[in-house]
Amino acid sequence: MAKAKIKFADVNVTVTVPVGTRIIEISEKVGSYIAYNCREGDCGSCLFTVLEGAEHLSKPSAPEKATIFAHFQQILDGWRSANDMESLQAMILRENFAGKNCRLACQTQVFGDATVAPL
Ligand code: FES
Repeated sequence: MAKAKIKFADVNVTVTVPVGTRIIEISEKVGSYIAYNCREGDCGSCLFTVLEGAEHLSKPSAPEKATIFAHFQQILDGWRSANDMESLQAMILRENFAGKNCRLACQTQVFGDATVAPL
């Protein structure tokens, strides 16, 4: 069976897994801080960032893209609710990520070497 190496940058752990393994199946075992809840692609809590090797991961499905889009809209709604400049800046800094390399850990399968991290 083909194998791939996946590195979790937040805990500096690299593991070798069978091709097709989902990120969430590994992140929990290595102690990565990638959160999760539904494990079905609905809640968006398992968002993570792909630091390297995005081309070695499964392509995002339309439902995964929709969940990520909804998550970013919630962030924008939070920014709109800021009452003053300091709280707006704090929220922007806390959520300061581009989103381009964000995926859902419960939906993303590993097909080759990659490096990932929580948001
Ligand atoms: S755990 Fe809910 S979308 Fe992945």
